[in-house]
Amino acid sequence: MHVKNIRLINFRNYYNLAMDFNKKINIFIGKNAQGKTNLLEAIYMCATGRSFRTNRDKEIINLSKNQAYIGADIGIGENEKFIEIKLDRDKPKRIRINKTELKNQKDLYSGLNIVAFSPDDLKLVKGGPQERRNFLDSEISQIKPVYNFNLNRYNKILFQRNNLLRLNKFQSNLEELLEVFDLQLAKIGTDIILERKKYIEELSNIVNVIHKNLTLGNESLRLYYSSNIEILENKSDMEKKYKDNLKKNMAKDIETGSTQLGPHRDDMLLSINNKDLKTFGSQGQQRTAVLSIKLSEVELIKKQRGHFPVLLLDDVFSELDKERKNYLIKSFKNMQTIITTTDSVDLKEMEGLDKSIFYIENGQIVK
Ligand SMILES: Nc1ncnc2c1ncn2[C@@H]1O[C@H](COP(=O)(O)OP(=O)(O)OP(=O)(O)O)[C@@H](O)[C@H]1O
Ligand SMILES: [Mg+2]
Repeated sequence: MHVKNIRLINFRNYYNLAMDFNKKINIFIGKNAQGKTNLLEAIYMCATGRSFRTNRDKEIINLSKNQAYIGADIGIGENEKFIEIKLDRDKPKRIRINKTELKNQKDLYSGLNIVAFSPDDLKLVKGGPQERRNFLDSEISQIKPVYNFNLNRYNKILFQRNNLLRLNKFQSNLEELLEVFDLQLAKIGTDIILERKKYIEELSNIVNVIHKNLTLGNESLRLYYSSNIEILENKSDMEKKYKDNLKKNMAKDIETGSTQLGPHRDDMLLSINNKDLKTFGSQGQQRTAVLSIKLSEVELIKKQRGHFPVLLLDDVFSELDKERKNYLIKSFKNMQTIITTTDSVDLKEMEGLDKSIFYIENGQIVK
């Protein structure tokens, strides 16, 4: 699969851009603050309907304008999809695929699969649990859109339950009302937990192989799901136990005004040679682990969707040593890759490959 072309109007610092991509390697060179990450953000939005930088769509509209537009032709095997996103300061965002407006504008999983990698992804190891949950949620949603649907429902119910806990603390039938929510939370929450666990187990197996290769057999990287809900073989037993525990915890929930138990508090643990990577890993180990995870995402998407994703690499080359750079470059032969860099020196390992080079300056692109 590949992005054939893109059209941007008033998207951040791009007033009017129309360009075609190479089916293989695309390199964008530009100084700081010229629009490199903005371009990747636009492509990412075509895949997911969201930005990786902000939840506030309005920020994306050029500061001096009221509307913005992204349009992209995507080639998926023999098929083609035309994805369009319209942003407006005063209206909700609108998304169209092949000129048909999506009913649920909240989330788009267009069929365009993306793996994005930037130095910022180190937060996957170093950041808090929320970072890792976001990672899991967006990756699983790409492979399985129904997961995203469930997640939105879960969050909605959780929000209502928390409101009830905070605002209606002294309502006489509070417990009964909470139990109605608990029933739904336990059901959807169980699905979410089991999906995450399954995803992590599959990812962990692939990660382990890739990371072994990257570290010449020295390091065994493993990922685990850590849930505050007990995971049981039998799904309905698990749901029941989950619901019982919500009930047992109710007094505490009422006291704190928030729901303590559930996948919204879960985490993913990473270990190298059985030691916690976040606490004991060196900076280089942590970086390599993130690279291994990103390359594993590629493999997992290939395995589950039957095609390679588009790989977006934002400024990652300057941080990798030669071996890791070469390892990464070897994976390019399978898929469309879109790379940004400030310095063309970073690209000397890519000599002889089929590629197009573009220069970005102040929201303008020249080949
Ligand atoms: N809504 C907006 N309207 C106009 N300009 C914007 C908007 N949002 C961001 N910008 C501008 O876009 C530029 C940053 O673009 P981007 O983040 O793509 O830079 P970059 O080329 O990736 O730089 P770096 O190498 O530092 O990462 C900045 O000049 C910023 O002011
Ligand atoms: Mg950038």
